[in-house]
Amino acid sequence: MTVRAGREFLAIPGPTTMPDQVLQAMHRPALDIYSAEMLELTESLLRDLSKLFATMGKSYIYIANGHGAWEATLSNVLSRGDKVLVLESGRFAIGWGQAAAAMGADVEVLKGDWRRAIRPAEVEERLRRDKEHKIKAILAVQVDTASGAYNDIEAIGKAIKAAGHPALFMVDTVASLGCMPFEMDKWYVDVAMSGSQKGLMTPPGLGFVAANDRAWDAHKKADLRTPYWDWTEREGSEHYRKYAGTAPVHLLFALREAINMLHAEGLENAFERHRLLGEAVRRAVAVWGEGQVLGFNIAEPAERSNTVTTVTVKGADPAAIQRYAKEKCGVVLGTGIGDLQGQAFRIAHMGHVNAPMILGTLGVVEVALTALNIPHGKAGADAAIQWLGENVKA
Ligand SMILES: Cc1ncc(COP(=O)(O)O)c(C=O)c1O
Repeated sequence: MTVRAGREFLAIPGPTTMPDQVLQAMHRPALDIYSAEMLELTESLLRDLSKLFATMGKSYIYIANGHGAWEATLSNVLSRGDKVLVLESGRFAIGWGQAAAAMGADVEVLKGDWRRAIRPAEVEERLRRDKEHKIKAILAVQVDTASGAYNDIEAIGKAIKAAGHPALFMVDTVASLGCMPFEMDKWYVDVAMSGSQKGLMTPPGLGFVAANDRAWDAHKKADLRTPYWDWTEREGSEHYRKYAGTAPVHLLFALREAINMLHAEGLENAFERHRLLGEAVRRAVAVWGEGQVLGFNIAEPAERSNTVTTVTVKGADPAAIQRYAKEKCGVVLGTGIGDLQGQAFRIAHMGHVNAPMILGTLGVVEVALTALNIPHGKAGADAAIQWLGENVKA
């Protein structure tokens, strides 16, 4: 017996649920890529992406996933042999650093661990020791989607300034843009990147990069540049060059609609929605944790992301919980990855999510825990309901 008829619900951290309006926006013929309508579409998106990153700098759209956008950031500002400092807080900054190393950079990892966010004081201390300013770029993620860590990018930006270090500060916002505040210019970020398939509610396949003047200065000297990623290639008046070739017309239709939806909701409201729903998930996990099997991967409450929660499982099989949720109830939970493979599952709460999606997901996890006889504190979903009832005002 199953209770899974109806639409399967993706509670994975990307690709996330796409709104019907976004899907429908793509259900139309392509545009002439040289038409005024197409030019206007591109201009409006580049403008709005810079606003989303909160920068006066320029934005670029790549036909690429997050890995592609990583490569875009690196190739535009680095030269072979440049030293890059990677700030560890899980899996994704490490992956970005591995791309840099493969491209010829000299990569050093500032050790963190999978249970906590980056410590700004440790960043400052490392940079103060780099008296010759060998480090040319610093890579960090705002949210690590594997560990569930939220990094305080503002505090890290201040630490870099306090050390008086000129390295470019480069930030991955793949799992946070449109969901949690991000202030590229105010927080001293020089290069930011993101992808379409999480908070931006658009199909996978678009990568975004924003760059300020300092990044552009480095760009002029960078020798890792290649034609597809190159910012200079994408400047100028010829629209075709903005994408280094044919525009991904339908993905742009989708993105336009998704950003329109974010504007209609109001970015601040979207951030608050993520905070409320993220906390609802955390209330439930805290209660389940009383059974001593489930727990938060991120030890410090302030370091837990509003977009994804990584739930550790000790003495039971997280895959069994995922299997039950999917096969019996139609909810797909995220799997534990990297160091947490086989030891965790993840609940995404990013993008096009509302209370029934989150409460339904929490309810299904609780059904799975009950059916599988996994010890857990009872009424976790109830704690989430209580939280929302008290905080989403009538
Ligand atoms: C924080 C973060 N950065 C980068 C990536 C890589 O993005 P993609 O899988 O689109 O290449 C991911 C993917 O989940 C991510 O979560």
